Amino acid sequence: MTANEELFARACQVIPGGVDSPVRSFRSVGGTPYFVARAEGPYVWDVAGRRYTDYVQSWGASILGHAHPKVVEAVQRAAADGTSYGAPTEREVLLAEAIRERMPSCQRVRLVSSGTEATMTAVRVARGFTGRDKIVVFDGCYHGHADTLLAAGGSGLATHGVPGSAGVPASAVADTVVAPYNLVPAVGGDVAAVLVEPVAANMGLVPPAPGFLEGLRAACDAAGALLIFDEVITGFRLGRGGAQERFCVVPDLTCMGKVIGGGLPLAAFGGRADVMSVLAPEGPVYQAGTLSGNPLATAAGLAVLELLDAGAYAQLSGRAGELAAGLAQVIADAGFPVSVPVVGPLVGLFFSADAPTDFASSKAADAGAYRRFFHQLLDRGVAFAPSPFEALFPSLAHSHREIERTVDLAAAAAMASREPA
Ligand SMILES: Cc1ncc(COP(=O)(O)O)c(C=O)c1O
Repeated sequence: MTANEELFARACQVIPGGVDSPVRSFRSVGGTPYFVARAEGPYVWDVAGRRYTDYVQSWGASILGHAHPKVVEAVQRAAADGTSYGAPTEREVLLAEAIRERMPSCQRVRLVSSGTEATMTAVRVARGFTGRDKIVVFDGCYHGHADTLLAAGGSGLATHGVPGSAGVPASAVADTVVAPYNLVPAVGGDVAAVLVEPVAANMGLVPPAPGFLEGLRAACDAAGALLIFDEVITGFRLGRGGAQERFCVVPDLTCMGKVIGGGLPLAAFGGRADVMSVLAPEGPVYQAGTLSGNPLATAAGLAVLELLDAGAYAQLSGRAGELAAGLAQVIADAGFPVSVPVVGPLVGLFFSADAPTDFASSKAADAGAYRRFFHQLLDRGVAFAPSPFEALFPSLAHSHREIERTVDLAAAAAMASREPA
């Protein structure tokens, strides 16, 4: 047994599935997950001392690369002053101001500890503000694991959601309508909010079709519904102002996470001042958190945002472009149909000739080929996401040379992934 196998066997005895979040378990790709002992820059090392070039980067939480000295220093300093107070701090104000400065639609902001909390509360705020219950979401988008948002769609039409998990009562999703991505659904006068990933990154990477986001904005305006952008992945990654800046569509509420916590548990939601004022203690919509605005997490977030200037985003997009072009070339050279969508610093990878535009076309890509390629690449020391439905997250620590190395290894991995004729 390898060190990873031994640890996984022990983990499975004491932790359901051996992991604290399902996708880490390798269920979609098979095999034993690597247990990370440490990480630095573009690399993680497993408990056996093996190094991987890491494109998971904590599922997008780490945009500077792992253990960036500025972030480590900020967290160490903050920790020395105490790890949590249960009272307001200056850094919470600074971070909220930094968010507002970058995303002007967030006139007011509240800090929470996870993306799940951000989306769950944004929906509650929308319902409280409009006095309506119904929400519209899109098949294949992921918004965390609140009951209301764990709804499964299915057909090519907008339908009332069915529970997307055991344990979610039908009543919890009775007011959740699930529509196909990239088609503007009917939005009636009973809809509180339309919630969308402005660039979908949880069914692989699926960009918005031209006019889709604008269409949602218009449909919400006509119905008096709120438009909520889930920018947990895109926020502070696509650029300083996230997807809303890139696509010039202004939502009423925005959910953020990942990048703004610099790898610590921090997320946020923000939006129009009049909408946000329904939150307790100003208004009647309740939300709270013992660790909200945690001093270590806000210190990390501020350190990260400070380093994300126009040059950083240009570098990220450049590297993502190199990675995407290289992967598309070498995987096609190995004889696979492949499409490698890229939106700024985000890269997707589908073993399909056409780039998917919704969940149905994403699911039609060859998951078996992804599985084989993933393992061939992992054997060569490069860690892609252990699921075909995730994006790749090149960081600022991935140098040009590192990307070239990845593409070379991907060429060998793709050739080795071919099934015998
Ligand atoms: C778009 C999106 N929204 C919300 C979430 C939930 O965030 P968290 O895992 O921090 O609860 C995720 C997590 O991956 C996400 O990708």
